[in-house]
Amino acid sequence: MKMVLSVLLMLVAGSRMPSDEIRLRDLPSVSREVLSYLPRNIVIAHRGTTYWAPEETEAAMRWARNSGADYLELDLQRTRDGVLIALHDVDLRRTTNVEEVYPERAASPVSEFTWEELCALDAGSWFNEAYPERARKEFVGLEILTLEDVVRIAEGYRIARGPNGRRMYQVDARGRRSPCYEKDPMDNGNRPGIYPETKEPHLFPGIEKDLARELQRLGWYHVDTAHMKRIPVMPGKVAVANSPARVILQTFSEESLVKLTEAFPRRIPTCLLLWLGNEPSDLKQNTPEAYAAKINFAIEHEAVIIGPSIAGAPNLYDELLAPWQGELIYRAGLQIHPYSFDTEEQMAEYTGWRDKLPARNRADGMFTNLTDMTIRFYQETLPAEYLKSNEGVGLPDNLQAEKKCEKAETLLDRLGYSSMVVNR
Ligand code: G3P
Ligand code: CA
Repeated sequence: MKMVLSVLLMLVAGSRMPSDEIRLRDLPSVSREVLSYLPRNIVIAHRGTTYWAPEETEAAMRWARNSGADYLELDLQRTRDGVLIALHDVDLRRTTNVEEVYPERAASPVSEFTWEELCALDAGSWFNEAYPERARKEFVGLEILTLEDVVRIAEGYRIARGPNGRRMYQVDARGRRSPCYEKDPMDNGNRPGIYPETKEPHLFPGIEKDLARELQRLGWYHVDTAHMKRIPVMPGKVAVANSPARVILQTFSEESLVKLTEAFPRRIPTCLLLWLGNEPSDLKQNTPEAYAAKINFAIEHEAVIIGPSIAGAPNLYDELLAPWQGELIYRAGLQIHPYSFDTEEQMAEYTGWRDKLPARNRADGMFTNLTDMTIRFYQETLPAEYLKSNEGVGLPDNLQAEKKCEKAETLLDRLGYSSMVVNR
């Protein structure tokens, strides 16, 4: 009803919105070039998944890759000894057994732990306790992942483990340990990109340069694209990992955005996330002027995507992607990757399908907690005219249409997370 009213008002007012008068910067040519190869209608596996498996673990990321996600999303933090890891919260209490293993340090930020100390933590059992109806025995003991782990999973590998299930390492002549990986026997050929977020970057000075250095070491970034790793891909499978858009950077922090621009001298797709609040980088007021200032900051620093929070259960985040906000972003020439989708209702709302107005699709990609649900929505619910074309970026026009998306529970079984239940 709200949408119908706002549309009627727009028609009466000659389709003008209050934000139409606001001045937006012109896009620099480097941003136009990046936009020319950025795929649309993409499925971004938020923390791998938060619904089907413990977030940001090997189970979540392998499941997302095999399900057909175009990107694996991760939150980047750094250990005391400089290892880049995937973890959302600043401390370890919600998603690990840190209170049992390091009771005196349980509330300490992750930056106070070494990588070896983190390896002693169980990042899977909390999920079984929180969601017994989705619990699986093999989630017990899953580790916190490194950035390298996520990249290797995207390339079709899994962590190599010894007979006791613990991960294996190689030790070089100077005693330095490096992790071992093996071809994933359950890999189905999908090669997603990665979508790292600098999480709480004020706690990790220099993390932007660390990220660039590590991606370069892994062959996923180089100032000269000729030096990037060629990743074999297969027809009919996700192939983003072998495209120039294989990495998308994201941050809420304006300061980190500036540093990312410096750390990645060859510009790659970058997203400025929006959150309504009072922290230094937050959107302080939900007004057209303040919103446009964020867009202009993104343009000035060569970001090409805006990532606004969306309303709706279960998160009940602030609505930062009302129709007028989508119009402003599109008028600036940027793309929109809203976060995070948990329901079909949300997808119907932000693609415009709920109100049957094709021009109102304001999601060029979705951070989703259920990759399977989002792929099915693109395939079975959203008509093709709601999708902007991928022609010109070397991708099929509707890159979701051909994916074979297996039922989530069946896929988890096949990936080896099969012993349903702990308490049945
Ligand atoms: O990355 C988009 C989204 O990740 C921001 O939300 O809090 O899950 O990192 P959050
Ligand atoms: Ca994130």
